[in-house]
Amino acid sequence: MDKLIIEGGTPLEGAIEVNGSKNAALPILLSSILLESPQTFRNVPDLRDIHTTRKLLELLGLHCAYDCERHEMRMEPGPLVPEAPYELVRTMRASVLCLGPLLARLGQAKVALPGGCAIGARPVDQHLKGFEKMGASFELEQGYIVGRCDRLRGAEITLDMPTVGGTENLIMGASIAEGETVLHNAAREPEIVDLANFLNSCGADIQGQGSSTITVRGVPKLIGADYAVMPDRIEAGTFLVAAGITGGRLFVKNCPMQALEAVVLKLQAMGMAFREEDGGVWASIDGPIQPCDLKTQPYPGFPTDMQAQLMAMMCLASGTSMVDERIFENRFMHASELVRMGARISITGHSAVVRGVPKLIGAEVMASDLRASASLVLAGLAAEGTTQVRRIYHLDRGYERIENKLCKVGAKIRREHEID
Ligand code: UD1
Repeated sequence: MDKLIIEGGTPLEGAIEVNGSKNAALPILLSSILLESPQTFRNVPDLRDIHTTRKLLELLGLHCAYDCERHEMRMEPGPLVPEAPYELVRTMRASVLCLGPLLARLGQAKVALPGGCAIGARPVDQHLKGFEKMGASFELEQGYIVGRCDRLRGAEITLDMPTVGGTENLIMGASIAEGETVLHNAAREPEIVDLANFLNSCGADIQGQGSSTITVRGVPKLIGADYAVMPDRIEAGTFLVAAGITGGRLFVKNCPMQALEAVVLKLQAMGMAFREEDGGVWASIDGPIQPCDLKTQPYPGFPTDMQAQLMAMMCLASGTSMVDERIFENRFMHASELVRMGARISITGHSAVVRGVPKLIGAEVMASDLRASASLVLAGLAAEGTTQVRRIYHLDRGYERIENKLCKVGAKIRREHEID
């Protein structure tokens, strides 16, 4: 297992580039199960979850070739196999997104119940409820969800909560179903818009993406060609915080500012300044970090995937901040590690109170999930002395060679292999 060793205290300066979005790429790649023609995807980040997705698609019968230097994935359809095995699904929860495409193409799917980040129970009941409305029936067999239908039929579906994965799964299933599906209380995340745009580029008829009512008129088949995945708003947001927490100045290339609006507003309240230029945004901070309060919400609210990174910055603010985590229970695992670096954080239920301290001090800390890992790296960049972030395999699920990117803008950070 690898660890990162960070010598903190250097303000980051220079240009840093944002890759394609992991959370957009996963459903988009899995939606190629729906296609009846070869497809090239561009801007696909070189991440562990992407390699897992490629393996899964190959097991499901597609031919995939991934050029990770060029960030290009080439897919060719093949005879489909309806089973997503536990060995893969347990390492990546998003694997459950093959359920909709398989049901739509084959009328059957056997998908292991997902694992993934240890940030809460994360059920898939809304996915199943939606497909049941579309005519599918499910049984649980030895840890596998087994779904069957003659053909998915369009339906009126109201989600209990705006689930991102649920919305994506149902859109994919509905795209080649018989008739019209209307999804109420749909999630509005930009990655869903990217998925819908991709499917529409293949001939689907999806409208309303980005709003809470999405209408999908089923078409007989989808024919793809070439598509570039949107930039990663969470990676971009992490780099914005890197500029702020180190007191540096970064030009974040391909930063999707519109998709990051809620994050940018909070960072401005914390004292950061942003100037958009062709191809990116300059991010800097003048003066001390100001405290702020935030509550995570579905898009367009503040994203839960940026909560841990903002909390790292709040640790160094000149006052007290509050965090209210409303999406996932158990998503404060970074807090106890930040406390080991000198932070003053107290947690009650889904709320955290962060009392700013003048400095953080390097320590050995343990990464527990993807965004928690990012928050510890950010804290390490700002801390006095050496921080070792252990168990960074989580980080590699969502950030492409983050240490190389950060080194290029002045960070002192290296990767070491450790034997457990
Ligand atoms: C996606 C993102 C993840 C992000 C999350 C919330 C991907 C691959 N992952 O995860 O990075 O943190 O959105 O923005 O895009 N829920 C149910 N029943 C369901 C589905 C969801 O109760 O059937 C609950 C979950 O437990 C959670 C909330 O709904 O409390 C949101 O989950 P959801 O939006 O589905 O997150 P994911 O799609 O898993």
